[in-house]
Amino acid sequence: MQNIEVIAQTKFMDNSPIVAQADTSLPNYTQENGLLVQFSSGEAAPTPVESDSQTQDSMSSETDFDSHMMQRCLTLARRALGRTSPNPLVGAVVVKNGEIIGEGFHPRAGEPHAEVFALRAAGVGARGATVYVNLEPCNHYGRTPPCSEGLIEAGVAKVVVGMVDPNPLVAGGGIARLRAAGVEVLVGVENEACQQLNEAFVHRILYKKPLGILKYAMTLDGKIATAGGHSAWVTNQAARSEVHQLRAACDAIIVGGNTVRQDNPYLTSHQVEAHNPLRVVMSRQLNLPENARLWETQEAPTLVLTEIGANPDLQKLLLKRGVEVVELPALTPEQAMIRLYERGFCSVLWECGGNLAASAIAQGAIQKIMAFIAPKIIGGSHAPTPVGDLGFTTMTEALPLERVRWRVVGSDCLVEGYLPQKNHQ
Ligand SMILES: NC(=O)c1ccc[n+]([C@@H]2O[C@H](COP(=O)([O-])OP(=O)(O)OC[C@H]3O[C@@H](n4cnc5c(N)ncnc54)[C@H](OP(=O)(O)O)[C@@H]3O)[C@@H](O)[C@H]2O)c1
Ligand SMILES: [Zn+2]
Repeated sequence: MQNIEVIAQTKFMDNSPIVAQADTSLPNYTQENGLLVQFSSGEAAPTPVESDSQTQDSMSSETDFDSHMMQRCLTLARRALGRTSPNPLVGAVVVKNGEIIGEGFHPRAGEPHAEVFALRAAGVGARGATVYVNLEPCNHYGRTPPCSEGLIEAGVAKVVVGMVDPNPLVAGGGIARLRAAGVEVLVGVENEACQQLNEAFVHRILYKKPLGILKYAMTLDGKIATAGGHSAWVTNQAARSEVHQLRAACDAIIVGGNTVRQDNPYLTSHQVEAHNPLRVVMSRQLNLPENARLWETQEAPTLVLTEIGANPDLQKLLLKRGVEVVELPALTPEQAMIRLYERGFCSVLWECGGNLAASAIAQGAIQKIMAFIAPKIIGGSHAPTPVGDLGFTTMTEALPLERVRWRVVGSDCLVEGYLPQKNHQ
C-alpha cells in the first residue's frame, strides 16, 4: 500500500481540482479534497493500467494497480462518512499513463457525484483515460445528470467499477450504457471492500429500511452495567474511540429513556470536524430529566420519539431547548426505523440497553451486532445484560450470527456479526 501522509490541513469538504501522481518514486505534494498530502517515496510504484486492454467483464485483467486505485477511491469516499445519505459513499480517480490526473468524491446528497469532480479535475486529459469508481456510475437523471453520459462525453477509454448498483431496477444499466458507447468496463475490483463500505446504503435500497446496528459494551461475564445501573466505563479508551468513529459514520443513534436517566450520555462523535449523527431518544412515558446532556443541541441535533400526549410540560421544555419531539400513536422500534427511513437515513446505531435491544431485534430493526467485550468480571445476578427477553426457551432457538469477525481493540475485544437473513427483511 502506498503510504500517504497528511502534512497540513487546509479545509475539509472541498472537491477542488487535484493534481496527484501515482508514481511514488518522487515525493509529491497534492491538494486532495482540501488536505495537502505527501505521497511518500521508497515504495514500489504500482503497475500502470493499459487503457487499450480488450477485456470486458473478466477479472483476469485486474492488476495490483487496479486494486490500489480502487482502494484510493474508497479512501476518497470515506472523506464524506456520515454525510451522504440517502446516497452512497463514492470516490473516483482518473488515471492516464499510470498517473492520477483527477480525483473526487461525493460530498453529500444534492451535490455532484464523485465522477463529476474527478472528470472536472482531469479536464481534457480525461480523453482516453481510465476512470476508477467504487460504485457503478449512475444512468438516470436524478438531482444531477447521469454519470454514464458524463464519462462518455469526456471520452474516457475505460471504466473500472468496484461494485454494481444494488438497486435491482437499475443494476447494470450504467455499465451497459458505457459498453454500448464503446467504453471498456471492468467490474468487481475490490468488490468486498466496496460492498462493506456501502453496506448500509445497500441495505436501505434492498429492504427499504435503514441498517440497524446494535452496539454494546459488556464485561466478560455478560453485563452492560452494575446491578445499580452504573456503566461508566465498561471498556477502555481504545474501544471508546472506535465507538466515536462508528458514530461519525452513522446517520442516527438510538437510546431509550432508561439510558438517559441512568447514564446521561452525550452520544457525540467527539471528533473535530467529524459528523455527528442525529441523537434519538425513544421514551413512552417521557419521564426524563429536565437537564440532560442530550438536550444540549448546539453540537448535535436530538429527536425525541414518544407517544401521543406524553408529559406535555417536558415536551414544551424540550422544544425550547431546540429538541425535536415527535409523538406516535404507538412507539415501537419498527415505527422508529420507518421514521428514520423517511428522513433518508441509511444507518442507525442502537446504543440502548437490553430491554429496548430485545424489542428492536424481535421487530427486525437490527441486522448487525458489534459487541465490545472487556476482560473483567462485575458479577450481579440482576445486573443488566445486552439483550433482554426474546421469549426463547431452548438453545436451539438462539440466533446464530453470520459472517462473524473478531479483533482486539486495545485491551478489549470486538466481536462483529450479522443476524440471520430473516432479520434483514
Ligand atoms: N454498556 C452499554 O453498552 C450500555 C448501553 C446502553 C445502556 N446501558 C445500560 O442499560 C441500562 C438501561 O437498560 P434499558 O434496557 O432499560 O435501556 P434503554 O436504552 O433505556 O431502553 C429502555 C427504555 O426505552 C424506552 N422504550 C420506548 N419504546 C420501547 C419499546 N418498544 N420497548 C422497550 N423500551 C422502549 C422506554 O423508555 P421510558 O421508560 O422512558 O418510556 C424504556 O424504559 C442502564 O443501566 C444503562 O447504563 C449500557
Ligand atoms: Zn452519478
